[in-house]
Amino acid sequence: MEEIRGRRLTLLIGEDEIKRRVRELGDRIAVEFRDAGEFVVVGLLKGAFVFTADLIREIDLPLKVDFLWVSSYGQSMESAGTIKVLKDLETDIEDRDVLLVDDILDTGTTLKEIHAFLLMKNPRRLKTCVLLDKKGRRKVDFEADYVGFEVPNRFLVGYGLDWGELGRNLSGVYAVEDQ
Ligand code: IMP
Ligand code: MG
Repeated sequence: MEEIRGRRLTLLIGEDEIKRRVRELGDRIAVEFRDAGEFVVVGLLKGAFVFTADLIREIDLPLKVDFLWVSSYGQSMESAGTIKVLKDLETDIEDRDVLLVDDILDTGTTLKEIHAFLLMKNPRRLKTCVLLDKKGRRKVDFEADYVGFEVPNRFLVGYGLDWGELGRNLSGVYAVEDQ
């Protein structure tokens, strides 16, 4: 039985299901970005590093990968609401086609701010892909262009998502039980 800090974990999305969906997303992205000049995939650290690693291998196009790291909310289960850039991009994305990748869209606050931050760098095109979408939690007006799975309003870990830095290495996505 999977457990973190004495809290039980319930499997929500298994490894095989994720793999299938990531392949579908990669195929769709490859079709829609086939006319890209220079294609840059931007993963958000740390949560999206697993998803980004799998997704890029399902996109059959020449592409560059970079990572952006913004402040997260540590041990807490609630979003802080404002971002601080801890590590900016090393790749110039001006006039490039960019795919921003994150693990989960929750209130939308973080991605909306990061999206605006990247737009200031004048990419030719900017699209967003998230593995998970907690649609019911949205507080700001922001939707992703590509979504892996819609998920219920529960705290999730695994496949890159953490609870106070633990759980990122689980191969599936799990809900953290209250007791
Ligand atoms: P938002 O600004 O509320 O949309 O928060 C998005 C970020 O919060 C994600 O990139 C995750 O890092 C984190 N987050 C939101 N929900 C969860 C969750 O259920 N488990 C782990 N991290 C989460
Ligand atoms: Mg995150």
